Amino acid sequence: MKPYISATVFSQRETVGGHFLVVLKVSDSFRESLPGQFVMVRMKSCDQPFLSRPFSIYSVYSHGKNTFLEILYKVVGKGTEAFSRLREGDILNILGPLGKGFDIPSECDKIVLIAGGVGIAPLSFLAERCERDINGAEIVCYIGAGSLEALVSLDRIEGICSVVKISTDDGSWGHAGSVTELFRRDMELYMDNDSRIYSCGPNPMLRSLNKLLKGRPVACQVSLEERMACGIGACLGCVVKIKSGDVGGGLVRVCKEGPVFDISSVDYSEHNG
Ligand SMILES: Cc1cc2nc3c(=O)[nH]c(=O)nc-3n(C[C@H](O)[C@H](O)[C@H](O)COP(=O)(O)OP(=O)(O)OC[C@H]3O[C@@H](n4cnc5c(N)ncnc54)[C@H](O)[C@@H]3O)c2cc1C
Ligand code: FES
Repeated sequence: MKPYISATVFSQRETVGGHFLVVLKVSDSFRESLPGQFVMVRMKSCDQPFLSRPFSIYSVYSHGKNTFLEILYKVVGKGTEAFSRLREGDILNILGPLGKGFDIPSECDKIVLIAGGVGIAPLSFLAERCERDINGAEIVCYIGAGSLEALVSLDRIEGICSVVKISTDDGSWGHAGSVTELFRRDMELYMDNDSRIYSCGPNPMLRSLNKLLKGRPVACQVSLEERMACGIGACLGCVVKIKSGDVGGGLVRVCKEGPVFDISSVDYSEHNG
């Protein structure tokens, strides 16, 4: 079993209201991190909060001899509130990279990303790698949030993707409504073997995407965000029901067999979170 290791906060800033970008100086072992993989993070002084928290890897890069890992997160409770007070030089404990990442094809015409809120974090890392590794693929991103103020990572994603389409629930920017509605208008453009769809966001959003894509001839992978305690397959706190697929059917651990699954294999009749 991998041990937690120390990581130093290199920088931290609030990007948009209640969302933070923290850059950690980490060991070289994180260099091989893949899009869709995640890390478990806990404060060095382990009382507040005492449990670790899972976060997708937003980016990993090397500069000189150092390796840096970025996490983009939204403050929602005790743990993330404590993380938001971290300052340059503070030390965290970090475990990873964990889980199974997205499958990236060597060739593909269109990469389609569908993100809800901070679900953009693993998809932005995926976009970076697709841009670097797949020759000539068009990368299109559909990104949704509650309002303009909650749209995160726009600058970065606009720098990578050839097309970025935006929706907000309150209509303060882009399409007024859900990101899956926005995607539905264009979806016939992507229903072929030369496109790949990837999505991350709240479960209701993934459930409606699943309905849209049911029986359609396109590959789609989703990253699930269950609550996690251990992150390494030991506590069974993150199990979901899977219909079938390369990890088999039945109950699987999101932290170990996932967090990335084919959308068609997730049993949304059970997975209602
Ligand atoms: C694989 C994975 C990757 C993730 N990546 C990111 C990321 O890149 N950025 C980010 O902001 N968040 C991400 N999350 C969610 C993040 O882990 C939680 O927001 C965080 O653990 C909340 O901790 P807290 O102590 O602040 O909140 P808590 O006090 O524990 O909970 C506050 C509220 O948040 C809800 N909540 C807690 N955990 C989750 C969860 N896993 N999914 C949905 N709702 C939750 C609780 O139900 C509660 O309503 C990810 C989760 C997983 C499993
Ligand atoms: S979080 Fe413990 S088994 Fe997945």
